[in-house]
Amino acid sequence: MNILVTGGGGYIGSHAVRQLREAGHAVVVLDNLVTGRREAIPNDVPFYKIDLAETEAIAQLLANRRIEGVMHFAALIQVGESVQKPLLYYKNNTAGAISLLTAMRQTGVKKFVFSSTAATYGEPEETPIYETTAQKPINPYGWSKWCVEQILRNEAYADRDFAFTIFRYFNVAGATADGSIGESHDPETHLIPNILFAAMGKKEKISVFGTDYPTPDGTCIRDYVHVDDLVAAHLFAMTAMKSGETRYYNLGSGSGYSVKEMLDAAKTVTKREIPTEYVARREGDPAILLANSDKAKKELGWKPQYTDMAAIIETAWRWHATHPAGYEKTKRRQ
Ligand code: UFG
Repeated sequence: MNILVTGGGGYIGSHAVRQLREAGHAVVVLDNLVTGRREAIPNDVPFYKIDLAETEAIAQLLANRRIEGVMHFAALIQVGESVQKPLLYYKNNTAGAISLLTAMRQTGVKKFVFSSTAATYGEPEETPIYETTAQKPINPYGWSKWCVEQILRNEAYADRDFAFTIFRYFNVAGATADGSIGESHDPETHLIPNILFAAMGKKEKISVFGTDYPTPDGTCIRDYVHVDDLVAAHLFAMTAMKSGETRYYNLGSGSGYSVKEMLDAAKTVTKREIPTEYVARREGDPAILLANSDKAKKELGWKPQYTDMAAIIETAWRWHATHPAGYEKTKRRQ
């Protein structure tokens, strides 16, 4: 298929580009490079530096490249920042998606895979979280994604040929097995990269946010899913998508790890001391986020390959250890 990947210069988008090409699809990347990196996009992939707000430019791209389906990864993702700058999040994530969908409407592109988030469940009403669990976001980031989910439902009602799959991501982690592309956020707020930065001395220490949660060791429990497993589900969804179908899936591993367990696993993988400090809770962190992803397994035939936390961390370690400055000083990929 001819597939447009928005956010192809970002963490998950760059892994999607790689897998799509390996599977024989023709990929085009759109990225405004605000958080995405040019170095993450292979030189021989058609790249358009376009902002999601540029509806006309997107429509032209879709038509010229005869795009058949869109995987929409481009978004801002920091919960804390979204609380400070809600309009920025609604503009990028919600209005950006409207602009993209408008361009798709104009050009008759009917297949859409959307990156949503566990943050749409807010403080979850049940554990594990099912696709049917009530969605009640507790921050603008979660709401900005929730709005797009709602818009997609309405659009699919209005245009009976329009098809979408929404994936609600849990904690995406790791890097592609050869460590050549990986997570490179600035600032980096996620747990695994920060643990590894402390292990390699790039950061003085890792701060553990909160030790008084109602969990066995007092630290938060999360569901970490390997980025290549996550992306694989997108390929299944896009290639199986039929006209007018609307689908929703959680993507997580179904296993929960506490922050302390992650630290222990990282010590084993890196064989290094990891200077640690225990500090107060970070605002807005639910105690436990655990997915039930049976639906994706059953309906899409999704089968995560990474079931062992050490194996996931090992891939992240390979990336960070060989790219201590992320994509800085990295040559453009061939
Ligand atoms: N944590 C620390 N120290 C750190 C970073 C994180 O203790 O330096 C803890 C957090 O408090 C949390 C856990 O490690 O308990 C995981 O934190 P991350 O920041 O790695 O991930 P989150 O669970 O906060 O967020 C992820 C995605 C968000 C998404 C959310 C769904 O990154 O985009 O899941 O709720 F919104």
